[in-house]
Amino acid sequence: MLDYEKPSPPPDDRRWKVVDRTMRSHGYEPHALIQVLHTAQETFGYLDEEVMRYVAASMRVPLSQVYGVATFYHFFTLKPQGEHTCVVCTGTACYIKGADSLLAAVEEVTGAKAGETSADGKVSVVTARCIGSCGLAPVAVLDGEAVGKIAVDGIKERIREWTSIAGDNGGAPPAGIPTTPVEGPAPQNPIIEGVTAHDTRRAS
Ligand code: FES
Repeated sequence: MLDYEKPSPPPDDRRWKVVDRTMRSHGYEPHALIQVLHTAQETFGYLDEEVMRYVAASMRVPLSQVYGVATFYHFFTLKPQGEHTCVVCTGTACYIKGADSLLAAVEEVTGAKAGETSADGKVSVVTARCIGSCGLAPVAVLDGEAVGKIAVDGIKERIREWTSIAGDNGGAPPAGIPTTPVEGPAPQNPIIEGVTAHDTRRAS
């Protein structure tokens, strides 16, 4: 018997509202599963277990069916395997505000292109089409934490915190940046108005 209880996503995280809107527009009909997963991937950058469970419960289809679709079609990507995940929104509003520079900076610091994980396995680089926070563009989601109006230097610094990759100052990390990888859960503080920190990492 299917578990039809609809999970409650973080109420202030607009990404879930984008997915909800698509499901609602299709009347939560199971035949719209591919379209909904497309929206979810464009919004989150990839499909992780939490997203697939949410879609399955909301559309009343077995989780196995959602997994089946997500793994069958090559255009779907499951959550990347890097220790940390950096999603750069490349939707129109963010693009106008410099998303391409952000992405270039992330690729430079990690050595990984969008869709790839850095050679040391520390950081997966992902792009999303729009995460629903256009007014705060450019936006990136760092380990599930949406950060609005982020600058190139800011995103580089955050990634260097993850990786301890040396900065441009003679090999020493920037002041205030720890020299060892940051352990433990993602920061819990909300970063931008209307978007609450939310960890989308797959449960182990
Ligand atoms: S285009 Fe980036 S949040 Fe909408």
